Parts: sequence; C-alpha cells; structure tokens
Amino acid sequence: MAFIDNSEIEKIRAKADIATIISSLGVDVIPAGKDYKCVCPFHDDHSPSLNISISKQIFKCFACGAGGNVFNFVSKYENVTFPEAVKIVADKIGYNLSVSNSIKSEDKHKLEHEIFNLACMFYQNNLNTSSGVIAKKYLKERNIDDKIINEFKIGLASDNKNDLFTLLTKKGYKIDLLEDLGLINIINDRAYDFFVGRITFPLDDINGNIVGFSSRIYRGEKDTSKYINTKETPIYIKGNNLFNYSKAKVAAKKEKNLIIVEGQMDAIRVYSSGIENVVALGGTALTQNQIKLIKNLNCKVILCLDADEAGEKATLINGDLLVKENIAVQVIRLSDYKDPDEYIINKGIDAFADNIKNPIDYLEFKIKVEEHNININNTEELATFINKVVIDISKLKDPIQKELTLNKVSSKYNISLDILKNKLENIKVENEVAKEVFSPQIKNNKKLTGLDIAIRKVLYYMMCDNKYIKKYQSKIGFFENKEYRNIANEIVYFQEKHGIISIADFISYITPNQDLYQIVLDIMDANDNDLNELEFDNYVEVINQKSNEIKIKLLKEEIKKELDLNKKKELLEEITKIKRGSVINENN
Ligand code: CTP
Ligand code: MN
Repeated sequence: MAFIDNSEIEKIRAKADIATIISSLGVDVIPAGKDYKCVCPFHDDHSPSLNISISKQIFKCFACGAGGNVFNFVSKYENVTFPEAVKIVADKIGYNLSVSNSIKSEDKHKLEHEIFNLACMFYQNNLNTSSGVIAKKYLKERNIDDKIINEFKIGLASDNKNDLFTLLTKKGYKIDLLEDLGLINIINDRAYDFFVGRITFPLDDINGNIVGFSSRIYRGEKDTSKYINTKETPIYIKGNNLFNYSKAKVAAKKEKNLIIVEGQMDAIRVYSSGIENVVALGGTALTQNQIKLIKNLNCKVILCLDADEAGEKATLINGDLLVKENIAVQVIRLSDYKDPDEYIINKGIDAFADNIKNPIDYLEFKIKVEEHNININNTEELATFINKVVIDISKLKDPIQKELTLNKVSSKYNISLDILKNKLENIKVENEVAKEVFSPQIKNNKKLTGLDIAIRKVLYYMMCDNKYIKKYQSKIGFFENKEYRNIANEIVYFQEKHGIISIADFISYITPNQDLYQIVLDIMDANDNDLNELEFDNYVEVINQKSNEIKIKLLKEEIKKELDLNKKKELLEEITKIKRGSVINENN
C-alpha cells in the first residue's frame, strides 16, 4: 500500500473544492443556500438526500449515513482505496503527486496477470499472421472490424496443439502454474494448449486485469462446443465476474443504468456502438456475487436478453433475482432479430437506443408472461394468479409505481381496487415483521444518552475551533468512554501537529480508523450550529456533573462493600471532596 504524506493530502484537499470534484464525477450537484446537495449515489435515493457543506468541505447523506471529505466520497464512489482516491483528486486538480506511480494498490497476482497479458498478446498477434486469415474473414463477416478487435483484444489460438505452452515455458513460467491458470492441459504427461483453433476473447476481472479467456469456433465445426471458456481457477471465478464489467462500470454509474445482455458478442456490439453501460451474462443466471457487483454501481438494470423463449425464461429468472435484492429492473424484448448483436447490425444502433429509452417495468413484463400460462376463464386459476401478482406488487419500492400497477390490474381483471389494496396491506404487515428480523439497519440509530449528546457536542466544538480544544484540556481533560476519549486525543494530537484544526483534514486523518471515523461522521451529522461559548460551557458542566455522579455512585457501592471503618471514612471523604469540587466548579 502506498503511503502519501499527510501534508500532501492536506495540500490537495485544500485545492480541491468538494462540490466541484463531486460534480466532475458526473453527479448533479444542486445549489442549496450557501451549500450544495445531490441525489445520494450510495443508496437508492430519489430526492437529494446528500448535503455538501462548502464551509466545512464535507458531505453527509442524512438518509444512509454516508459521509466524509472529498477523498472519502471519491473512494466510495469509484470503489477505490483512500490513497487511490487522493491520486484521482490530485489528477483532477492537476497536482503532481510525488508517489503517484506506486499508488495503485499492490497487485497480489502480478505473475498471473503477466502470464495472461502475454498469452493475450500472443493470440492477438496470431490473428494478424497468415494463419489468421480465415478467422479474420469470419470476424469481418460478423461486422467485427479492427477497431473492435483491438478494443476487446480479440485473438486467435492457432491449430497447433502447444504453441502457447512452448512460448510460456520458454519464458520460464512453471508448467504447474500454467495448468492451474487453465491455459494448458496435461494429458498422459504431455502438455497441450487449452485453447486450440478458436477465436479468443480475454475475460477481465472487475479491475480490468485479464484472468481468463472465452473462445469461439469460427469454421462452423459441428462436433464441439460453440464456446469454450477458462474453467474456474484461483483468479478466475466465473460467478465473481461479468463480461465487460470493468469497461462498463463508469458509464453505468453515470447513466444510472446497466444493460444486461446474454452473449459476449452482444455486449461487444452494444459497447462498440457507443452504449458503454453494458455487461453480458455469458449464458448463466446471475450469482449473488454478480448481483453485489451490480449493486455497487447503484443503478437500475435493463435486461435485454435474447428474443427467443429461452431469453424470456432467463429474463424471469434474473429479474426475480435482482428484484429480490432491491434493484430496480426494466425489460426490453427485441423483435425481428434474435439478439442485440443481430438487431444492431441490421437495424442500427439508433433503433436499439430507442428500445433502451422505452423499457417496460419488470413486473409488467412478468405479469404479461405469466398471464399467458393461465386460463383466465377459470376463476380459481385467475385468483391464484392475481394473488401472486399482488405479492409481486408489494415488493415494488416506488409507491407511485405500486399504485399505477395496482390500478392496471384492477381494471384489467375487473377486480375492485379496494380488495387489491386490502390484500396489499396484509402483505405489507407480513413483510414488515419479516423485515425487522432480517434487514440490516441502514443507519445505526442507537439511542444516545444526555451524556453522549453533551460529549459529542464538545467534540464537535473541538473539531471546529482550537479554542475549544484548550478548554477541553483545562476543564475536562478525559472522557470515561474509550471511543470518545480516543477521538478527543486524536483531535488534540492533530491540532498539536498542525497548529490549526480543519474538519475535512481531520477526517482524512481519522479515516483509517473506521470505528472512530463513523462516530466523527455521526457527530458532524447531528451538529451543524454556530459556535457559542456559553453553550459549550453548559455542556462541559453537564459532562463533569454526570461524571461526578457516576464516580459518587461507584464510591457509594464500594463503601457498602467495605468492612474496614477507616477505609469507609476515606471513601466518604472522597465523595465529599467530589461534591465540594463540583460546587466550586459551578461557582466558577
Ligand atoms: N455460451 C457458452 N457456451 C456455449 C454456448 C454459449 O459459454 N456452448 C455463452 C457465451 O458466453 C455466449 C452466451 O452463452 O455468448 C450466449 O449464447 P448464444 O446466445 O448461443 O450465443 P451468441 O451470443 O449469440 O453467440 P454468437 O453470436 O457468437 O453465436
Ligand atoms: Mn449472437
């Protein structure tokens, strides 16, 4: 992990206005008085819940609790480490970071990635040799031009059975490793290339490292699979990747929308036609980890799978999986051509883009499909069907969409809206009971005591102005609670090192300590007032009084237990001393 000097981090932060940087990431920031706000990209937000304070140079979402300074925002938004975020911000403001080359977090699989890069270059080169003529012709016939070939690093595994093996072992890579990576097979002690006589497509992990290949026949062979992909290896876990994810993620965040297609050829076609927020399933249902990847993008999903019946089935399976994870899903069903690739080749990208602009909501699609499978004239069947539909409606998050869908069902099947709403209400109660048990709390709403609030106020004042750090030292000096004590100590330490305290820089400093960072954010969230010395003094008094009360209570308990009369007396005196002390304090 790269180390960037704190003073450098502070210099960059001072030059990088938080609202400007957030806006440069493609997030719409809206002026709100002297501050800004925006729709929070860290949860499924509809109204602008995220406040950006210009004076403090920090952000805070009051709905999901995300917060911090400019680096915390970039780190969370771009899914990168804190130092990487510092580097991104430095680049944006044209600051020359001295250690910038070593910032990318350390590549744990450097050797493996190196091997795959070499293999990929080898395959790419094959395509340009005389043995690649037929493959090149095949690609051309499929409207894959050189630009696309280069962009997707498409290559060719030649017909020779151990070309790649020879190349890589000559370079000194161990046979065992090549086998583990799925590049060669060992059969009867002889090594063979895994990919032979096929067009190759590198598979990236989410960071864009090549970790495997997909490969396709190109001469119409009949006795073999159309596609063969790298099997599961320690660095290629199919269920953790989505084809084209590393390329699509930025555009998907920006567009707030991810298009999912079935085949990689579809993704390649859509992407290279200029619609970049597209990934391919590769012929399987979404795994939980893939859904997590999608969730990280904080966007809705448009399923645009093949036009055939299998594509319809796959839409239902994946749609249900996504909806279950609270992802908004819409659907496109193409007609005339079997998949997005052929559709775009024949009708053009504009026609495809029109479809993307007019998807139908997943539930509407689902109702339409399922309706086909029942006999509407059979009341029992119809009732079961409608009950199921209402359960699906209950899962919709948007109340307007809920209402609209309910209305449609009511008029379509001639069922009173009241009955449907009643049913929905019952389901809601059931869901809520279930939710209480299962759903993680978005915000930690632990009840704060009066003492907590007073201490947090004091910490807030300390973070805002040096003067209150001094006052804390002279009048309190110590919090009983470990977390608060640590935060206070960190503030004192930070101020001693810097001379002056700035909240945004203090946040940079505290970020590595996630527990304290979270409390600091909560404190910033709850306190937004102008500083008032009298108020501060009142809180100090509350804290000291409370802490005396606690001390006295503890002493009294000890007195009860103590048998030695002299010791009892000593303890009593101590109590008197505390009581007197607090009276003196009050008179101060
Ligand atoms: N697939 C696979 N193995 C197969 C067939 C398909 O891994 N034997 C995966 C591929 O990732 C493929 C996707 O499933 O892209 C969709 O399959 P299909 O619709 O049959 O292929 P297309 O994408 O239409 O491929 P092409 O256009 O190259 O025929
Ligand atoms: Mn196809």
